[in-house]
Amino acid sequence: SLPSKVRIVEVGPRDGLQNEKNFVPTEEKIKFIDKLTETGLETIEVTSFISPKWVPQLADAKQVFTSIQKKPGVRYPVLVPNLKGLEAALEAGAQEIAIFAAASETFSRKNLNCSIDESLSRFKQVTEEARKQGLSVRGYVSCVAGCPFEGPIETDKVVKVTRGLFEMGCYEVSLGDTIGVGTPGDFHRILQALKPHVSMSALAVHCHDTRGTALANILTALQYQVAVVDASVAGLGGCPFAPGATGNVATEDVIYMLRGMHIDVGPVDLSALITCGQQVCDLLGKKNNSKVAVATQAR
Ligand code: HMG
Ligand code: MG
Repeated sequence: SLPSKVRIVEVGPRDGLQNEKNFVPTEEKIKFIDKLTETGLETIEVTSFISPKWVPQLADAKQVFTSIQKKPGVRYPVLVPNLKGLEAALEAGAQEIAIFAAASETFSRKNLNCSIDESLSRFKQVTEEARKQGLSVRGYVSCVAGCPFEGPIETDKVVKVTRGLFEMGCYEVSLGDTIGVGTPGDFHRILQALKPHVSMSALAVHCHDTRGTALANILTALQYQVAVVDASVAGLGGCPFAPGATGNVATEDVIYMLRGMHIDVGPVDLSALITCGQQVCDLLGKKNNSKVAVATQAR
């Protein structure tokens, strides 16, 4: 059986924009996020309080976060890599943060400038402090199905980092196929290994669609009772520290598939979302990577 309800976490403003080379004006980011809110999405990852030296695109995190129109009941998480980022997120008024570890040692160094163990002890401090301040903390594990530097990643490493994030107090952990190399075979293997250790209903999947396997991987996860799916409008996305990473699975395509399966994905207006996705593609000068959007607009 499959879950009857799935929560969608829209990551377009964060994962989508972080990989854009040309700076997207702060006003445009704010308009984009406000439009996403208007579509009825219930969780929108807004930005990252990371070092602007590492990701200049998101140097305006505070201004973006404090300027968007926050609709009651909608969650607006932000990425935080360390205590300094937590402090900035708190100052901006964030109520939920996401921390991000990796199952690959090399990727951890490239993305966070520290080892996996160092990142976990850093994130433990961040999580403890955040929870003391009343924030919810979500965790990511990158490279669950493969690393751009190391290739295949041992299942045990994925299990170890996922358990570590739950143990420090994350309410949910999102399994990231950062470079979109995973297949349903990988997700079966990983979820089977996680099953004895963690609650499937506290997991999310975060599939980049580089090789066209994201929807199949999501369906596999649903068969394990995973009920949270990360997605990005128009299939935006990528990671500046993961060579070869392209966009996330498109939110429009996830909604289309799940609604077709009679799974409740919340009140989001798909046609408004398609319009919003096309507008941001036009702004960025990119092609729309949502198949549903392209098919709908061609009619
Ligand atoms: P570092 O260079 O080791 O940090 O980087 P540091 O502590 O030595 O600080 C260096 C400078 O940055 C200092 O400034 C700090 O003040 C400043 P300086 O003294 O030179 O003027 N700094 C900060 N400024 C603002 N906010 C902060 C902050 N921290 C330090 N929070 C660090 C370590 C973690 C900072 C760096 O590696 C970093 O920012 N990494 C972020 C990388 C990133 O954003 N990656 C993309 C997101 S992850 C992802 O996309 C994967 C995901 O989608 C899931 C998936 O697909 O798998 C989530
Ligand atoms: Mg990602």
